[in-house]
Amino acid sequence: MLDIDFIRKQFPAFSEPSLDGWAFFENAGGSYTCRQVINRLTDYYTKTKVQPYAAYPASQTAGAAMDEAYTRLAAYLNIGEDELNFGPSTSQNTYVLAQAMRGMWQDGDEIVVSTQDHEANAGAWRRLAQTGIVVKEWLVDPETGRLNPDDLDDLLNDKTRLLAFPHCSNVVAHINPVAEIAAKGKAAGAIVVTDGVAYAPHGLPDVGGLGVDIYLFSLYKTWGPHLGLMYVKRDLLKEMVNQGHYFNDGSPHYMLTPAGPDHAQIAAAAGIAAYLDAVYAHHFDEDVDAAERGRRIHALFASHEKQLLAHLLGWLRNRDDIRIIGPDDPELRAPTVSIIPTKKRISEMLPVLAEHKLMVGNGHFYAVRPLTGMNISLDTGVLRLSFLHYTTQQEIEQLITGLSAALD
Ligand SMILES: Cc1ncc(COP(=O)(O)O)c(C=O)c1O
Repeated sequence: MLDIDFIRKQFPAFSEPSLDGWAFFENAGGSYTCRQVINRLTDYYTKTKVQPYAAYPASQTAGAAMDEAYTRLAAYLNIGEDELNFGPSTSQNTYVLAQAMRGMWQDGDEIVVSTQDHEANAGAWRRLAQTGIVVKEWLVDPETGRLNPDDLDDLLNDKTRLLAFPHCSNVVAHINPVAEIAAKGKAAGAIVVTDGVAYAPHGLPDVGGLGVDIYLFSLYKTWGPHLGLMYVKRDLLKEMVNQGHYFNDGSPHYMLTPAGPDHAQIAAAAGIAAYLDAVYAHHFDEDVDAAERGRRIHALFASHEKQLLAHLLGWLRNRDDIRIIGPDDPELRAPTVSIIPTKKRISEMLPVLAEHKLMVGNGHFYAVRPLTGMNISLDTGVLRLSFLHYTTQQEIEQLITGLSAALD
């Protein structure tokens, strides 16, 4: 059982007086930050805000703090340190990747992009059409918003160079069978790119075990600093066209970071691993490697989240004035629940939800293509209720009370 009191003590936002009583349900937009990250960021700015990797002590401490982030996060993700890259955001990471890979392909080569993706894992790839790449769409089901892996049989062929899809969408939230889809893509010889931004906050995935070539997520949604993290398979990076300074060609942490890395935030990212270590030490006795700790913590977070999700979905299902987007079975989805009220406008509900001290999201969340694919108006969009492992049963009750009032 997850010790929720212990978990919440790791997040200063939960003891911040100005947030007292407010229940946070916009975690899919960005999560609260754990104290291990905040402390590292403060330490970096206070004690080591110098150029890292030089010969003097403050600089060496700064470099070591950055190295720690690569080492500890790579271990949790079950990937090599040289396969882990930080960039300013996932949107910028895909942008850079598209430039880095275009040089590997010929005019007339094909890529397959899903319509379930946030624009971050769509726009950069689709723009390659302007340079002679043929873009094929893997469409969502208009009713359920789901992607059907069988549809790939008609989309993939020996000209396919890339297959891009989400681990789970930030509005549909159905968890896609990544390994199965990756196997199809690999069988066709395609590079498989998975956007894990909406999935990773629910427990870091065993990226090395997924069978994908590239996996992306955003650390400001996984309790950390505002950075994008990307896994790029070692052999694939070697084939890419360097996007950094020419003399950095071949350097794993520099080739895909033309902007230069944000040193302090990279150092702070190690705090995510430190948080996970603290969670593990509090809940488990056995000494296992980081990848295994990650799997166990993932299961711990998932069981807590699913219990809360089952309760919320049960309540939502029983109403006749709500459409739930994506599956209504907690086993099939992440706790990012988009709904559309059928008898009220979302804009009418928002002030009532705020009166109940509920922080929720509304709009299209840059998931314009999935919503369009389900014929959902972009003007009104959806009301999105997203939570994480640090959410309590009491907060779910507060949400249900607020929703009842807002819908009546
Ligand atoms: C599923 C998904 N992918 C990608 C992104 C974009 O991430 P970033 O803000 O790091 O570019 C988001 C942001 O909301 C998202 O929800």
